[in-house]
Amino acid sequence: MSTWLEGRVVGQTRWTERLLSLQVQAPFGPFEAGQFTRLALDIGGERMARPYSLVNAPATAPLEFYYNVVPHGPLSPRLAALQAGDGVYVAPDAAGFLVLREVPQAQNLWLICTGTGLGPFLSILRTAEPWRRFRRVTLVHATRVVADQAYRGLIAALAAERGAQFGFVPMLSREAAPGALAGRSPEAIRDGRLERAAQADRSAACSHVMLCGNPDMVKEVTAALAERGMHKHRRRAPGHVTAETYW
Ligand SMILES: Cc1cc2nc3c(=O)[nH]c(=O)nc-3n(C[C@H](O)[C@H](O)[C@H](O)COP(=O)(O)OP(=O)(O)OC[C@H]3O[C@@H](n4cnc5c(N)ncnc54)[C@H](O)[C@@H]3O)c2cc1C
Ligand SMILES: NC(=O)c1ccc[n+]([C@@H]2O[C@H](COP(=O)([O-])OP(=O)(O)OC[C@H]3O[C@@H](n4cnc5c(N)ncnc54)[C@H](OP(=O)(O)O)[C@@H]3O)[C@@H](O)[C@H]2O)c1
Repeated sequence: MSTWLEGRVVGQTRWTERLLSLQVQAPFGPFEAGQFTRLALDIGGERMARPYSLVNAPATAPLEFYYNVVPHGPLSPRLAALQAGDGVYVAPDAAGFLVLREVPQAQNLWLICTGTGLGPFLSILRTAEPWRRFRRVTLVHATRVVADQAYRGLIAALAAERGAQFGFVPMLSREAAPGALAGRSPEAIRDGRLERAAQADRSAACSHVMLCGNPDMVKEVTAALAERGMHKHRRRAPGHVTAETYW
């Protein structure tokens, strides 16, 4: 990536004390839904940069980033202090392979994420492609508590628009709430609760799974899927699982 774009903050949504969405105006080029770019601030005379997934759909403005404040992290607490009108550097290019172009044809698409890993899937769901290509699309969002289930309005709007083609399964690991699955996704895959809740087939014969967020979740879900004959997708060795980890 070459020179930085000088972005301007146009808004900041505060979902909870530590979960936020930053909206940025910048002359950003084309990208594919699911990709990330980098945000940067000058801190102590040094340009501190980190990757962040784009939540907005391609060719829409402003750019949106869904992130959490990592206590004592070098960048995220500073991003959280930004207000409308403040400057933030944006890398000019998007990168990443968590995109539908990399996903082979299947009947059902599963998007499984933890926490802020929801972001790239929202961008994908805001485009026409998943609805054109897959018979059923299931979004699984796993968080500790219900307060961390951000973007519920957008997800409800997608559900209303897409009807039976779309399924949404919220998962909560540290409290109970009506309509949410309890526990973690690897267990819910192994004991069949996830498929029952989603009312969708997740067999290797007809599904592709995209994973995003906590690296331990990605590792453990990948292992649970491998037990069912679903393997990492590679261009040279087509499979059923595509993943991106955030740390
Ligand atoms: C490809 C890619 C895309 C990313 N997209 C996003 C995104 O859209 N939203 C986002 O919030 N983060 C995203 N991240 C993580 C992000 O780049 C930063 O690491 C994070 O915002 C913390 O920055 P920091 O400088 O405060 O702390 P860092 O020094 O970067 O991280 C310190 C520690 O915080 C933990 N951590 C980092 N990111 C997260 C997270 N998202 N949730 C929980 N714990 C975390 C890890 O244990 C990490 O070692 C992405 C990372 C990668 C590699
Ligand atoms: N969420 C909060 O209230 C909170 C508050 C202060 C600080 N933090 C810090 O912020 C960071 C991120 O927290 P977060 O809640 O956004 O993200 P997270 O820790 O990645 O948790 C998100 C979801 O992923 C689940 N998960 C974790 N490991 C998993 C695995 N191996 N397999 C499957 N699922 C797994 C969690 O379940 P489990 O609950 O079972 O781990 C939780 O349901 C953490 O470092 C945390 O210390 C969080």
